[in-house]
Amino acid sequence: MTNKITTLGGFIYEYQKSVSHPEDFWSSIAETFYWQKKFDKVLEWDFEKPDVKWFLNGKLNITENIFERHMFERKNQPALIWEPNNPKEKEKVYTYKELYDEVRVFANMLLSKGIRKGDRVVIYLPMIPELTIAMLACARIGAIHSVIFAGFSVNAVADRVKDAGAKMIITADGGYRGTKTIPLKEIIDEAMDNCDCNSVKNILVIKRTGQKVAFMEDRDVWLEDALKGISKENDAEVMESEDPLFILYTSGSTGQPKGLVHSTAGYMVYTSYSFKNIFQYSDGDVFFCSADIGWITGHSYIVYGPLLAGATTVMYEGTPTYPDAGRFWDIVEKYKVNQFYTAPTAIRALMGYGQKPFEGKDLSSLKVLGSVGEPINEEAWHWYHDFVGQSRCPIVDTWWQTETGGIMISPLAGITPTKPAYATLPFVGVQPAIMNGDGKEQSGKSVEGNLCIKFPWPGMARTVWGDHKRYKKTYFSQYKGYYFTGDGVKRDEDGYYRILGRVDDVINVSGHRLGTAEIENAINEHPLVVESAVVGYPHKVKGQGIFAFVVCQELSTGGVEGIKTSVKKAVEKIIGPIARPDEIRLVEGLPKTRSGKIMRRILRKIAEGGTKDFGDTTTLLDPGIVDSIIENECEKKYQKKDKKK
Ligand code: WT7
Repeated sequence: MTNKITTLGGFIYEYQKSVSHPEDFWSSIAETFYWQKKFDKVLEWDFEKPDVKWFLNGKLNITENIFERHMFERKNQPALIWEPNNPKEKEKVYTYKELYDEVRVFANMLLSKGIRKGDRVVIYLPMIPELTIAMLACARIGAIHSVIFAGFSVNAVADRVKDAGAKMIITADGGYRGTKTIPLKEIIDEAMDNCDCNSVKNILVIKRTGQKVAFMEDRDVWLEDALKGISKENDAEVMESEDPLFILYTSGSTGQPKGLVHSTAGYMVYTSYSFKNIFQYSDGDVFFCSADIGWITGHSYIVYGPLLAGATTVMYEGTPTYPDAGRFWDIVEKYKVNQFYTAPTAIRALMGYGQKPFEGKDLSSLKVLGSVGEPINEEAWHWYHDFVGQSRCPIVDTWWQTETGGIMISPLAGITPTKPAYATLPFVGVQPAIMNGDGKEQSGKSVEGNLCIKFPWPGMARTVWGDHKRYKKTYFSQYKGYYFTGDGVKRDEDGYYRILGRVDDVINVSGHRLGTAEIENAINEHPLVVESAVVGYPHKVKGQGIFAFVVCQELSTGGVEGIKTSVKKAVEKIIGPIARPDEIRLVEGLPKTRSGKIMRRILRKIAEGGTKDFGDTTTLLDPGIVDSIIENECEKKYQKKDKKK
């Protein structure tokens, strides 16, 4: 395989080259791809504007780099292996040639429905092969896909469809996840009723569960009908290097999710190169990433990175514990998985089941284990290492973000010496900077602060869809000339990086990123809620749990427990089950400063179970509120009233 680093010396050499001569370095990697017209300039950048362009004036199509480029060598090699939710249902295996044919037919069908280069297509699908096919079909014709995680609910979907101005939505009648069935088409219908998403001309529906769905004539089409008579001959659309490939929404400090826009060429080069090197993928290996494609991990390391590298990638529809906690190990054994990539929350959940799920399972194919999405605690790291990896497989703890497109800080498997809970060293081409309280970069080892990146890398998001100002404000305004990640970090005496978690109002629940403001907005829509404040707190399995402090009007029916349940249900309906608060405390008021700002620091402390040492509280409008929250006075009062009734 070209561009594969195989030794620590090789890594150090390449890293140094990537920092001293970034343009030569990335150019030599980009040259190994197929260009309809080669780029004539490698990089233009300005982090103050901000403006970043890679591989300027190049023309290409990312799917030609997945299919045409590999066709001679890999025609009959499995590209995509799909494992269904129900282990009794048969898997599906697509070779490179078969996937190529599926993608081209799908692409022609999109064209027949009037989708053209630059149009946005929302994809709201369960983890079925059509999800991958639909994404690649969009890329084939230059349409910009925006995948929405199928766990999101009505309002979250409506907001995203509207913001993207989608012309088409691709969905399914329903989706299976473990024992549950999610009514996807019904959610889409409700979302469409709730927003004026006039841009949407067609809703394409794929049959998965066979459940009954409502159909709106002229607008809704079954995939099987749409595909009738469509040919597979298709010439890929010619794309510019900087043309958007996709939009993916993620949560931030404010209530409204941001649509991060990823480019065609830079994203292609970065995901493919990072995939090969970090996981040390070798020809013929089988790679299994257990994430959902609705998140960036799935985009970059189930679909694009592996397929660009000519790999065999496994896509699994269900959950880690269905039908039992040995399911991942069944899949590893069934397909002889060589690299396995999952989130610490899954590891911690499986730890609770002990050794039994491993019994009789052959995990000897495994060579590399990966972790992503949140800090991995030492206990989980050791369990992963000892029991899954049988003390034989290196663990790559990979730090990155939706915004970065690909992995940024991580060991190279088997090459970089690891340390539990450390993401270790920056990947080739990545130049981190640790900022102190005065906004200055701290040089040297043994320092701690906010994590920034000071030089562009090809995989970075280029803008926020429709709102470049917000892109600038969120990422390039805290530290002039730097990209700010939102994470705290420590660099130890060996120069190794340890990610400490978010320093903003973003929480990480089971490896899913949620904005506290987004959850508060959902809670506040409840008719009995006056206002609310949401904070994260340490949770044994989820990493962080969601704690909501809720100010209510007089309770009517159902009392304290009743209102808590209905608030949880409302959040589930508005955002999705992932945002459901773990804990709710009804309070008389929130600790606010005289200027009206909620002091979250205090609430975080209370959520952790703290009862004292709240730091400076002299700026509080009503200091008494803190004790009242700790003593849970509001709920006690309501409960007393309830008893009287
Ligand atoms: C945030 C990004 C990128 C994959 C999935 C998450 C946290 C991610 C790690 C890690 C510690 C991590 C950070 C980051 N995070 N990976 N290996 N160690 N923290 O993408 O939803 O955009 O979330 O996830 O806080 O900022 P995302």
